Amino acid sequence: MAEFALPKNSQITKKGARVHKAPADAKSIKNFKVYRYDPDSGENPRYDTFEIDTENCGPMVLDALIKMKSEQDSSLTFRRSCREGICGSCSMNIDGRNGLACTTAIEDVKGDVTITPLPHMEVIKDLVPDFTHFYAQYSSIKPWLQTVTPPPSGKERLQSPEDREKLDGLYECILCACCSTSCPSYWWNSDKFLGPAILLQAYRWLADSRDEMTGDRLDELEDPFRLYRCHTIMNCANVCPKGLNPAKAIAEIKKMEVERVV
Ligand code: SF4
Ligand code: SF4
Ligand code: FES
Repeated sequence: MAEFALPKNSQITKKGARVHKAPADAKSIKNFKVYRYDPDSGENPRYDTFEIDTENCGPMVLDALIKMKSEQDSSLTFRRSCREGICGSCSMNIDGRNGLACTTAIEDVKGDVTITPLPHMEVIKDLVPDFTHFYAQYSSIKPWLQTVTPPPSGKERLQSPEDREKLDGLYECILCACCSTSCPSYWWNSDKFLGPAILLQAYRWLADSRDEMTGDRLDELEDPFRLYRCHTIMNCANVCPKGLNPAKAIAEIKKMEVERVV
């Protein structure tokens, strides 16, 4: 790994962690303890401390991370894009709770702010988890409109306002994975269990009045692991930064499976 020169306000502790001090004239200092891991370095993970002058920083945790990277340690690695809760890139664990760094206010975290990657995912570097498996699971549910008949009008498939409303609470999902990585069933069975995020997405297509592959979609999900590992612990609904309820979507899929058998 390329070594980055430490700025003059930074020190290395005996255990190898870095402590990045705020400027001497800082008036309001908040400590951020940030998980650092670089698999290429051969070193164990560690927590670095960043002192941030909150009077000289934007209000959100993402603002603090950007300040750390710009002013204290340019090697700090994290994902972000939209900075307004739309892209889902900045999902991470902030003080023990999964959420989006760009919509989590610094002042809402009491005391030091501990930041780690989303739990139970492989870490590529620092706060960047590997989403390869998550995206493969997303792809497996065929997240697009599937039809067999031509559009009735010959042009587009219309949907009544009532049918369109059935997608509310589903289409807003930004695939941040905060829910799946807070689900104990997903922690232990993510090789087979699709998890709350992907099942909510699966229900988004089952609930779409224009989709004509409902039977095939239900066949794919009818499996002891893919769907039925949800034990309604509700962590998923508690952490969703968009206020969605994946557990409810999962219950709706189970209901559809039962109703078509009867
Ligand atoms: S309700 Fe189901 S999907 Fe949601 S956290 Fe619990 S077990 Fe996981
Ligand atoms: S349901 Fe919520 S927490 Fe889960 S992936 Fe979608 S937006 Fe993120
Ligand atoms: S940066 Fe896009 S959701 Fe946070």
